[in-house]
Amino acid sequence: MTADEPTLHLYSDLAWLWPLWGDVDGEYAEWCGVVHRLMHHHARRELHTLLNLGCGGGKNVANLKQHYAVTGVDISSAMLDFARQLNPTSSFIQADMRTCQLAQTFDAVLIDDAITYMTSRTDLARVFTTAYAHLAPGGVMVVSPDYLVETFQPNETRVSHAASVHKPAHLDVVFIENNYDPNPHDDTFAGTMIYLIREHGVLRVVQDNSTLGLFTRAVWHDTLSGCGFAVHETAGIAHPEHPVFVCVKAGEIENHHACGTL
Ligand SMILES: C[S@@+](CC[C@H](N)C(=O)[O-])C[C@H]1O[C@@H](n2cnc3c(N)ncnc32)[C@H](O)[C@@H]1O
Repeated sequence: MTADEPTLHLYSDLAWLWPLWGDVDGEYAEWCGVVHRLMHHHARRELHTLLNLGCGGGKNVANLKQHYAVTGVDISSAMLDFARQLNPTSSFIQADMRTCQLAQTFDAVLIDDAITYMTSRTDLARVFTTAYAHLAPGGVMVVSPDYLVETFQPNETRVSHAASVHKPAHLDVVFIENNYDPNPHDDTFAGTMIYLIREHGVLRVVQDNSTLGLFTRAVWHDTLSGCGFAVHETAGIAHPEHPVFVCVKAGEIENHHACGTL
């Protein structure tokens, strides 16, 4: 582990829980289908390569690699280990998405839940600047925050269980997520995760506390357009109240025929 790696249990010593939480072929497949359609609708170039910033355990990559040659970037080596296991033919790079400089441009960029770890407008802009620099002219970025100030649900609590299809018989895991905003006047909220891990019936309770970013819709639009993007906002799927920003880098290659219908 390097000094810059996250200290959350979920992305370090408990990264092995990630494959148990959420189904690659279910919610991730559905979301990636939406991403694929939006990218094709808005791009001004043909789409062959995709950069997934904050790719985590590679569940999105597992779906997007059907359509694109995917490169994943994540700061956590433990999460990248799982991404590589799931996607042995894709490329993965350990780096900070605020600062990474890959010697390559891509036709498309996806950033989804990882953007929530940006807790200041400066960091938000650094990630979008990174994405812009790695996009070819006419390329498209889809970025999707978990929450906006306008859609945040105070004290929202969700409980989910480890997917039984991936789980050994001796193991049970319950995930409890709670989001709380102690100061509605700043750009952050508190995300608490509690993991109830039962191995051979013996209970272990582990907690992760995160400070996460929470920005207004206006800040999102201003920051994205300030980084050079033409911005289109649409609604999410599983949570229609959550926005999806589809952002196009100016420029158009010749012979472009890729614009599809949604
Ligand atoms: C919820 S996981 C992403 C899971 C992913 N959507 C998938 O398909 O499996 C969030 C990821 O954001 C990563 N992350 C947080 N801050 C980061 C940063 N500054 N640069 C790169 N990755 C970061 C974490 O290491 C973590 O793997």
